[in-house]
Amino acid sequence: MAQEISTKDQFEFVFNAFRGLQTVQVISLGLQTGMLAALDAAEGGLSDGELAEKLSLHPPYVRLWCQTAYAFHVLEMSADSRYQIAPKLNTVLLDQEHPRYLGGFAQGFATYLADDFQRYPEAFSKGTVFPFWERGEHFSAWVSGLTHPLQRLVVGKVLPELFGDLLQTGIHVLDVGCGAGRLIFKLAESYPHCRFVGIDADAHGIAIARKESSRLGLSSRVTFRHVRGEQLKFESEFDLALMFEVFHELPVSERASVLTGCYRALRPGGQLFIVDETWPESIEQLRDPAYGMSIMVQFSELVWGNLVATESEQTRLLHDAGFRHLKRGDIGGTFTTILAQKPLRIE
Ligand SMILES: C[S@@+](CC[C@H](N)C(=O)[O-])C[C@H]1O[C@@H](n2cnc3c(N)ncnc32)[C@H](O)[C@@H]1O
Repeated sequence: MAQEISTKDQFEFVFNAFRGLQTVQVISLGLQTGMLAALDAAEGGLSDGELAEKLSLHPPYVRLWCQTAYAFHVLEMSADSRYQIAPKLNTVLLDQEHPRYLGGFAQGFATYLADDFQRYPEAFSKGTVFPFWERGEHFSAWVSGLTHPLQRLVVGKVLPELFGDLLQTGIHVLDVGCGAGRLIFKLAESYPHCRFVGIDADAHGIAIARKESSRLGLSSRVTFRHVRGEQLKFESEFDLALMFEVFHELPVSERASVLTGCYRALRPGGQLFIVDETWPESIEQLRDPAYGMSIMVQFSELVWGNLVATESEQTRLLHDAGFRHLKRGDIGGTFTTILAQKPLRIE
């Protein structure tokens, strides 16, 4: 017989959720003030007094932050009473290159997403949205930091496995929803014979991308255009189209036209490669850890106007646009990958 759930159990369930929220605040503050980085850099750790002095912070607050972070298992204490970051947490919180880096999320949860949450009550009554491209350059740069570790993995491993020879030879690549352009820069630096076009609805992302492109000396092979995916006008020009964490951001009413535009932009035999989240198809899947990231992304991007598609929606839209030979995969059991081909001979 299933054990009855008590009020005490439910109190603890909610209490632990509060504790999780506060752990994020502690981490975010540790990142913003530099306390976590300073502790990581100090061999053997630091006392709270040394930490406060090093960063010119208010000592009583630093002491309480250290004690709270210790209570929450973010910090450990050495035998001589110095605080250190808990094992491997420096990788997860400070190493922006690591695929398991979550420091950017921690900062965003306590800043942008906390601000967004203030908008939820009104959004729930009026259905209002605050879209990506109205948020400013700082926000666009923050998002490009979030996607950077996953992009590294995709450029370093996933794409070479799928298209290594083609990329080496040199192909024409379209990045739809390129944001600040970092996926293109990684590819352009690894594959000097390829040419790239990045398009995005967000003028701030495109502005960052253009500046960075000329700084990196890539402007002869890389072009960025401030244009929406539903306005793509290319005809059979590209060998590969990419949509990296974009599909769920496309307005539902525009998804078909964006995919049709990608299809037209590709040469026959060209491929579209998508990385995105997938929404559970059934109630049971809502509690399946494989969808954990999708649920969090969906809830935190609600007022961006985003809607994570289910597998059947993704498949139907791609199929309707003309794509065939769909191959689904995943990255780390969390992110969906979809490879779809424009047939060599149109049926
Ligand atoms: C999560 S960001 C990802 C950006 C970039 N691909 C990356 O990996 O950093 C999603 C991007 O999709 C763009 N986007 C959303 N809807 C779009 C549309 N209809 N047309 C073009 N870009 C769009 C947003 O402006 C934003 O830059």
